[in-house]
Amino acid sequence: MTAPTLAERFREDFPILDQTVHGKPLAYLDNAASTQHPVEVIEEISRYYRESHANVHRGLHALSSRATELYEHARQRVAAYLNSESSESIVFTRGTTEAINLVACAWGDRLKPDDGILLTEMEHHANLIPWQMAARRTGAKLHFLAVNGDEGQVDWTRLESVLEQQPIRILALTHISNSLGCINPVAEVCRIARKHGVTTLIDAAQSAGHMPLDVQAIGCDFLAFSGHKCCGPTGIGVLYGRKELLDQMPPYQTGGEMIVSVNFEGAEWKPAPHRFEAGTPHIAGAIGLGAALDYLDSVGRKEIQENDHYFGRQAAARLREIPELRLLGPAGERAGIVSFQLGKIHAHDVVAFADQQGIALRGGHHCNQPLIRKLGLIATARASFYFYNTETELDRLVRVLHSAIAYFG
Ligand code: ALA
Repeated sequence: MTAPTLAERFREDFPILDQTVHGKPLAYLDNAASTQHPVEVIEEISRYYRESHANVHRGLHALSSRATELYEHARQRVAAYLNSESSESIVFTRGTTEAINLVACAWGDRLKPDDGILLTEMEHHANLIPWQMAARRTGAKLHFLAVNGDEGQVDWTRLESVLEQQPIRILALTHISNSLGCINPVAEVCRIARKHGVTTLIDAAQSAGHMPLDVQAIGCDFLAFSGHKCCGPTGIGVLYGRKELLDQMPPYQTGGEMIVSVNFEGAEWKPAPHRFEAGTPHIAGAIGLGAALDYLDSVGRKEIQENDHYFGRQAAARLREIPELRLLGPAGERAGIVSFQLGKIHAHDVVAFADQQGIALRGGHHCNQPLIRKLGLIATARASFYFYNTETELDRLVRVLHSAIAYFG
C-alpha cells in the first residue's frame, strides 16, 4: 500500500496547521467535526467583504447586483459539484442540521398516523431528532435498521423485507457514519427504496467533502451537507431536493424574500429554492462554500477519497495492534475515521492527554448517544483524517495512545 502524497502537495495551503499547541506541532485529527480552510477560501470571503458586499435579490444598485451574482453563482457551483439536474434544486441552509429539519417539517408534515419513517441506528442526532419531532406532530411511526456489533454494520439484505412489511414513506440515512467510519451503499439503498415508492434523504455531512458525489447516480430525493466539513465556512450548508418535490413543499420559514406577493390576509410564495430562503442569507458563507468546492475539485475528490481510505485502513490496523483498545467500525474499507475506547480510560482523558502533545481528537458520544449506549459505551475517542494529514501525525497518534496507557495505568 503506497502512502498518498496529497499532504506534501496541499498542506501548505492551510495556514492554521502551521502552529504549535502546548509547545508541540499541531496534529489536527478532528476533521469529522470540522475541517480547516485553505488560503483560497479565506481570501475569497475577505475579497467579498472588501469589494462586493450588499444585500442580495433586493437592490437595483451595482453592489447588490454583484453580490447577487456571486451568491447565485455559488448555487450553480454547488449544483455542478453534486451533479444536480439544476441549480433550482439547491437550497442554502445553515448546515446539515437545518437542511434535515427543513425536510422533516416541510415534507414531513404530509405524514399520516402510522406512516413509517425508516432510519438506521447509526444516525447522527441531526438525522434522528427532527424525525422524532415529525413523528410526534403527525402520529407517524419511527422504525430502525439495526446496527450490530462493534463493526457497526447494518444488514442491508433486510431492507427489502422491512419495506414490504411496513408502510414506510421515507428512509433517511447517513452516507458515512461519523462515529463508526463505515460507508453505507446509498445508491443501492435508494434504488430499493424507489422501487417501493419510498422517499429518500441522504445525510452527506461526512461524505460531501471526501469523495465524488452525484445525486443523479445515487438516485436520492434529498441530500444534505455542511460547508464547514468540506473546507468551507460554518453557518452555511446545502439541501439538495428534487425540484418537483421542493415545489410541492410549503415553506419552512417565512418572511422577506421568499414571496411573490403578500396582502394582509395571506401570501403567495416563490418556487424553490427561494421559497426556502427567508430573510437575508449567509451570502459570504455561500460564496466561501463555492470557493471551497472549487478548491476540493482542484485537489481531486477521487484522490481525497483514496487518501481517506488509506488513512482509515492504516489507522485501524495500527490501533488494532494495541491490545487494550476497542475499535469501532468495519473490518474492511472505511472512511478516515477511527473511533475507539482505550482500556478503562475515559475518552475525555484520552483527548486531554493527546491535546497536551499537540494532537486534536474528539471525545464524547459524537451526537450518536443511542448507538454508543447500545454498544455498551458512554463515549469514545475519535481521530478523523483529511488530505492534509501526514503519516507522521498518524505515528504520533499511535505513540500518544501507548503513552496514555502507561500514564493512566
Ligand atoms: N457531527 C460532528 C462530529 O461528528 C460535529 O463531530
